Formats: sequence, structure tokens, C-alpha cells
Amino acid sequence: MAATESVQDLHLVNLVKSFGDFVAVDDLTLTIPAGSFFALLGPSGCGKTTTLRMVAGLEDPTSGQIMLGSTDITHEKPYKRHVNTVFQSYALFPHLDIFENVAFGLRRRGVKDVNGPVTSMLELVELGPMARRKPAQLSGCQQQRVAVARALINQPGVLPLDEPLGALDLKLRRQMQIELKRIQTEVGTTFVHVTHDQEEAMTMADTVAVMNKGRIEQMGPPVEIYELPRTAFVANFLGQSNMVEGTVSGRSGEDLVV
Ligand SMILES: Nc1ncnc2c1ncn2[C@@H]1O[C@H](COP(=O)(O)OP(=O)(O)OP(=O)(O)O)[C@@H](O)[C@H]1O
Ligand SMILES: [Mg+2]
Repeated sequence: MAATESVQDLHLVNLVKSFGDFVAVDDLTLTIPAGSFFALLGPSGCGKTTTLRMVAGLEDPTSGQIMLGSTDITHEKPYKRHVNTVFQSYALFPHLDIFENVAFGLRRRGVKDVNGPVTSMLELVELGPMARRKPAQLSGCQQQRVAVARALINQPGVLPLDEPLGALDLKLRRQMQIELKRIQTEVGTTFVHVTHDQEEAMTMADTVAVMNKGRIEQMGPPVEIYELPRTAFVANFLGQSNMVEGTVSGRSGEDLVV
């Protein structure tokens, strides 16, 4: 089941996306390590979806590059890159049962024997017994797992997820966070998880990038971002914070005197 052979670091290099005069993604440069659980966290309108759509090939960058390992995929067609996206609105095929929804990518590629891979994928997301149901006969949480299975069956190197848990209520959300993390650990695919929920990013991700107005304000392990916010925006966005203004009056060895 592991997709590890096709998993490589994802590099965004000076990535820019403008809509007319408005710069939605402003000179983004970052590396997402292969096999990591990466969270892009930021307020509404900061450019998360736009970034993800460029990675998926659904939006053409204004300038800059997207590299998967040493391959430039900036202008590669969406279906040609090792990238499969999971959207907030699952977008399952309503007329197909769960098995056929998951089998879709394989059938389209002309794979003859889909039984084995689909069955083990349904086991991975714990939906084996539901294989012959239609999407409308599943809960939101279960539908979300079908969407993940349908994307993972193509063994993508990168799995962008745009607010994948946004439609779930709080309790199911927490449950699916644990599920998604387990699935990611098992398959070893790089997950790029977009959310505006701080707690979600902090509990799930190995690395969190905090985005504001098209730029990354800070990026690092959750603990570091939480304990050592580098800007007031990051501190405020991550939770309640007490800020006191001060003036640096001097230096004492490594420390600043305030
Ligand atoms: N096709 C478009 N044409 C013009 N402006 C756009 C287009 N797509 C996005 N934008 C603008 O770019 C900015 C970033 O949008 P984006 O969808 O990336 O935000 P987001 O971080 O995903 O927000 P949310 O959390 O609400 O989903 C927004 O101000 C949005 O209005
Ligand atoms: Mg969005």
C-alpha cells in the first residue's frame, strides 16, 4: 500500500498568484519534506486554497516554480503530477457505490484487476463492509474517508487536503483528525492539510506554516510556533496571548534588556 517510492520533497519556489491587481499568494518559498504531515494554517482569504490549487495544477501560477523532488511540475497537467486533491465538498460520484468510487482512478488508467487494491484501500479507511452502499447512505465522516481512499488509490506522492473536515461537527472532526493522522502514517504520502483551525493544525501536523495575506509568517514544528511565535500575528492567531509593549535598552550577553 505504501506510496513511498513516489514520495519526494515538494518545493515551492518564489510562487506568486495575482488576480488582477490583487496578490493572493505573495512570493512563497518553502519545502515540504517527503512523507510529512504539513499544515497550512491561516485566516480566511490568506491564500491557502489558491496555494493548494497551484500545487494540484488547477491554477496557473503568475510566476515561480513548483518542484516535486528535482522535477519541475509547475506547468504539468493535473492528472500527470503525482498529486491528488481531497476537497471539502467530498465530490463523490453519487450514482456509483463506494467500491466503484474508490476504483475510479484505477479503471480510468486501464488497470484490469481492481479488486485487490480497492479492497485493501477500503480496509485502510475502515469501510470494507460499506463497499456496496451509495455515498448518500453514508455519514459525513464516512464520506470523507471515501474521498481520501479515492485519492490515495492513485498512490500520489502528495495529497493536498483543503479543509477536509470543515463539514463535520466538532466531535466527528476530532475523531477524523486521529483517523487521518493514522492513515497518513500508514501510507507515508506527504499530506498538505489546509485549515483555519489552530488546534487541528497543532495536533495533526509535523510542520505548521502560518500564512497571512499571501505570505508565510512562520513555519516550524507546532511546539516551536506555539512557544516562540515570531510575530504578533502568529501569537494572536494561535490563541489567547498577553502582549506588553517594551523598548530594548541594551544587551546583556545573549539577552536583550527591555
Ligand atoms: N479566481 C479568483 N479571482 C479573484 N480573486 C480570487 C480568486 N480566487 C481567490 N481570490 C482571492 O484571493 C484571496 C485568497 O483566496 P483563497 O481562496 O486562497 O483563501 P483561503 O485562505 O483559502 O480562505 P478560506 O479560509 O476562506 O478558504 C481571497 O481574497 C480571494 O477573494
Ligand atoms: Mg480556502
